[in-house]
Amino acid sequence: MTFCREEHVRIPESDLEGMSVDTLAVRAGQIRTGELEHSDAIFPTSSFVYGSAAQAAARFGGEEPGNIYSRFTNPTVQAFEARIAAMEGGERAVATASGMAAILSTCMALLKSGDHVVCSRGVFGTTNVLFQKYLAKFGVDTTFVSLTDRSQWEAAIRPETRMLFIETPSNPLCEVADMAALAELAHARDALFVVDNCFCTPVLQRPFEQGADIVIHSATKYLDGQGRCVGGVVVGPEKLMEEVYGFLRSAGPTMSPFNAWVFLKGLETLPIRMRAHCDNALELAQWLEGQSAVAEVFYAGLESHPQHELARQQQSGFGGVLSFRLKGGREEAWAFIDATRMISITANLGDVKTTITHPATTTHGRLSPEDKAHAGITENLVRISVGIEAVADLKIDLQRGFSALEQ
Ligand SMILES: Cc1ncc(COP(=O)(O)O)c(C=O)c1O
Repeated sequence: MTFCREEHVRIPESDLEGMSVDTLAVRAGQIRTGELEHSDAIFPTSSFVYGSAAQAAARFGGEEPGNIYSRFTNPTVQAFEARIAAMEGGERAVATASGMAAILSTCMALLKSGDHVVCSRGVFGTTNVLFQKYLAKFGVDTTFVSLTDRSQWEAAIRPETRMLFIETPSNPLCEVADMAALAELAHARDALFVVDNCFCTPVLQRPFEQGADIVIHSATKYLDGQGRCVGGVVVGPEKLMEEVYGFLRSAGPTMSPFNAWVFLKGLETLPIRMRAHCDNALELAQWLEGQSAVAEVFYAGLESHPQHELARQQQSGFGGVLSFRLKGGREEAWAFIDATRMISITANLGDVKTTITHPATTTHGRLSPEDKAHAGITENLVRISVGIEAVADLKIDLQRGFSALEQ
């Protein structure tokens, strides 16, 4: 029997062209070995061997493509990169050790001392710390503005602004940015428009179609979806990704092959999980709106949400994260959280298991009181990342919280 490796190594991209994200999630990027395994192979090896010293030299010199060392070339990691790039509709992806490593690598590769960033205020707390505390040490200055107020973005942009950075919907208040408008602003000044697409994933939102230059993910969240691994990824045009890849090769915040394999498996079920998250979250948000102990619910799927129409246009679903303010303060928020029995008290989100968080003292706990106030992170705010359990059972558990407040 003859075996033509070339025919079996990977489904050619052209064979999948135009296919839906549901199909790409399952099929894109798989590298099949000579064993012809059906499920993705995992390559837990730090280095690769060569047929000769000349071949080793050719690989290191970039004259011959192929694997070298898993800090920067690993087939399982490459399969994950190819799959997420196809799903986002980007040219190339670079996988990283965490979502924060994805943001750091993007900034280290594409910014320099003296550059200026404009960033939305509602970003994940650690992203805020990265810009304010660490990138500032290397001469990159950041101005934080309201995600939804275009005039603040215009006012903040300076001649040396090189990047506009957002998360949409924002964490935890679910504000929605007008991506096309921000892309236009960025491009008029020759700045990069970077979107953290962690909350929606490519299943619900495609930032490149709205003008984004770079899309970032914390793979730790929905891409895995089952709370197993920490990882991240940057997606964008070949030229920019070559820079990000170069930083990774030199600095090393690399994704492990094992984690890449877990994320590949996670991606296969991402489309159906996202739809289940969205259905449950919308029903819970509507139910929470009717509770007398709740002062305000934040979820873009609600008609009461100020950017509901924009979210309808930009997203194909409203996502699985919602938050709400209870009447009262920290005491009420903690009492509510502590009274739940099934829902997990944990800071992670995007898991099939529903999680509940007090942002002011956990995810956003390192923000200064002023920054918290600006970002709307009040003591009575509770965030829920709605999982895929039966929504009736989630209501039973949350009702325990409301009953505790009544007592
Ligand atoms: C929107 C968003 N971006 C980035 C990150 C950072 O990701 P990681 O925890 O994988 O470093 C998080 C983490 O919660 C997040 O919620």
